[in-house]
Formats: sequence, structure tokens, C-alpha cells
Amino acid sequence: MPESKPSLLSLADIEATRRPFVEARPMPGPPYRDPRIFSAEIETLFLKMWLCVGHQSGLSSPGDYLMREVGAESVIVLRGDDGTIRAFHNVCRHRGTRLLDDAVGTVPACISCPYHSWAYGLDGKLLTAPLMDEVEGFDKTDYALGPVRCETWNGFIFISFDPDAAALTECLAGLPDFSRFGMERLGLGATHEYEIAANWKLVCENYGECYHCPTNHPQLNPVSHFRSGGDSFEGDYFCGGPMRLNDGCVTMTVTGQTTRDPIEGLGPDDLRLVHYFNIYPAFLLSLHPDYVLTHTIWPVAADRSVIRCEWLFTPRAIARSDFDPSDAVDFWHVTNEQDWAICERAQKGVQSRSYRPGRYQSLEKTIYFFDNWYLRSMETALSGNCNGNNG
Ligand code: FES
Ligand SMILES: [Fe+2]
Repeated sequence: MPESKPSLLSLADIEATRRPFVEARPMPGPPYRDPRIFSAEIETLFLKMWLCVGHQSGLSSPGDYLMREVGAESVIVLRGDDGTIRAFHNVCRHRGTRLLDDAVGTVPACISCPYHSWAYGLDGKLLTAPLMDEVEGFDKTDYALGPVRCETWNGFIFISFDPDAAALTECLAGLPDFSRFGMERLGLGATHEYEIAANWKLVCENYGECYHCPTNHPQLNPVSHFRSGGDSFEGDYFCGGPMRLNDGCVTMTVTGQTTRDPIEGLGPDDLRLVHYFNIYPAFLLSLHPDYVLTHTIWPVAADRSVIRCEWLFTPRAIARSDFDPSDAVDFWHVTNEQDWAICERAQKGVQSRSYRPGRYQSLEKTIYFFDNWYLRSMETALSGNCNGNNG
């Protein structure tokens, strides 16, 4: 029998969030501030689940790569000479040195280790290893970079550090069908990276409700009313729902207008809605009539997160000589900054031992879904009986 460890969250606290929505309470402070819970989340969620690293259009040419960090792990996602996108551990096979530092970049024909110059091809194979021909029995083919699972969904690249994870498409099979948005054909129009002093779950929760919008986003209500959300819904791997654009507004920009055409093939409903989904654990997908915005949230510490945003547009919009994504980018950049400020303020509050959760407002149903998914997924770890190596 595994040795029983002390619980990281009281059963009463867990049950308070698990009650039916109208009786439930938000989560208490420890999941937002306890470094032991943070380590357990890395092990249980981020090193087990599929994580979106970005849209495939960000890796348009051979040698283009993304680098992402999760706990002590680091992954390189790289387009090869054959056009295939692969993922590798960012760890040299000689003596383990980290290979690449930048979150995004392009390598020439190979990845060269900065320590002793072992060089790996864009397919991860070891190409050259100086002086190693003097080493008896050394065979380059034994020392390719360690592979990381890498699959795509609607044009988005996902990785999983878990070799036993079910296939990505199987995991995401329950999501609504977004194929009409043709996301695999969209192209990257802009990116932005933020680092904020708040727990990753506060960012997910904040995304899941517009109860905070009148107080925090004065520019948002004139374009999409904070009570315009339709029914939110959930599945095993997601929660979310639509919000309606105000009459006369065609998209989320400062004016509610744009010169871009809508994404071809969308029906009249989609032209009036913005769909907001969190694909667990932390891939926020916002589908607008004429563009798609994504946030990927990368936990750094219990009270720190990196957030990467991508704005994706149709090839037709990007091909225009006057293509200018700034109406969409500026609108969400301002909104993001307002959100990060309030998330950092929330972090300061939940750090306090005095914090006791209140109640969910009816506009916070998506948060209830998220919190309950989190508690279900973390049940064993929070009970203190997680056998994983949590560092
Ligand atoms: S550690 Fe990379 S070449 Fe030696
Ligand atoms: Fe917000």
C-alpha cells in the first residue's frame, strides 16, 4: 500500500467546489500559491497532457523552431527539411547540455551544441561529433535527440511529454467541430509574449468569465456586452462558449469594425459570435468572424506565468498589400494588459492566509467547469498520494 501523505487541500475545500453550481464555492488559496501543489500540477497535468505550442504557420520554413519549457523539461519543436514538424528534448545526447535558448528562432542546417559542438540534423539525428571517431564502438546513430510526441489539430501543434498519452485527436474528439473556420489554413499575423506575477489558473479562470468586464474592460462592452454569453458547456478536455457581438459590430476591434472579410464559409450565427474555449490545461482559443486569437499559458512558478498570444488571419487578408492586423492586436493587447493587472492583483489576494472563497456568480459557470476539471484531474495529487517525482 502506498504510504499516505498529508493532504495538500482539505476534503471540505474540494467538496465545496464540487457541489452543484448554485451551491458551489470557488477554490481556496493553496492551489494558487502552494509550491508543492504547483509541482504536482506540472507532473500531473503539464507533463501528461497534450500542450499546444503554437500554430503551424509559425514554423513556415525548414529550420524554424519553437522552444517551450515545462518544469525542468524543455522541448524544441522544429520543421525539418522534409516539411515535417517534429519535437525533441532540448538536451544534448553527449553530456546533457541545453541546446537552444530562444522561444522562437531559426537554425541553419543543424542544431549545434554550444559545449562540444555535437551537431544534430533537423530530423534530430546526430550528424557530427568532433573527435568521437577516436572512441571505440561509438555509433552516431545511437545518439539522436530524444523525441517528444508531436501532433497537430486544426493547424495547431501540440506536444506531450507522456509517451503513453492517447492520440491527440482521440483526446480532443469531444470538442465542438471548428473545421468551418479552416484554422489549418490561417497564417500568423502577430504574436505577443507576456510574463505575469499570477498563477496560471487565475489566467484561465479570468478568461472564462466576463463578470469582470464592466469594471476592467471599458472598451469591450461597446463591442460585445458582458452579459451576451450563451450557455457555456464543457467536455473532458475543454470548457467554453460563445459571446455575441453587439448590433452593428462585426468583430472584436476598438471600433467593432474591420476592413477584413470574414473567414469564408462561416454561417450567419458565427458572424455574430465570438467563441471562447479553454482546451485544458491552458490553451485559450478565441474564434472571431475574421481572425483567431490564441493564448497559451506556461506555468513558471505558483505565482508566475508566461503567456504567448498568436493572432491568425486568412491567407487572403495577409496577402493584401495593406494588411494591417493592428486593429485586432491593439484591442486584445489592451484587454490582455487589463486582465494581467487584475490577475496579479488577484494573486496578491489569494496569497493571504485570510482568503476564504465566496460564491460563483451565474456568469462564472465556465470557471466552475474549469475548477471542477482541475480538482478531478488533481484528486490523487492533492490527496498527497501522488507517486510521481515532483522534484
Ligand atoms: S554536452 Fe553537447 S556536445 Fe558535449
Ligand atoms: Fe478580461
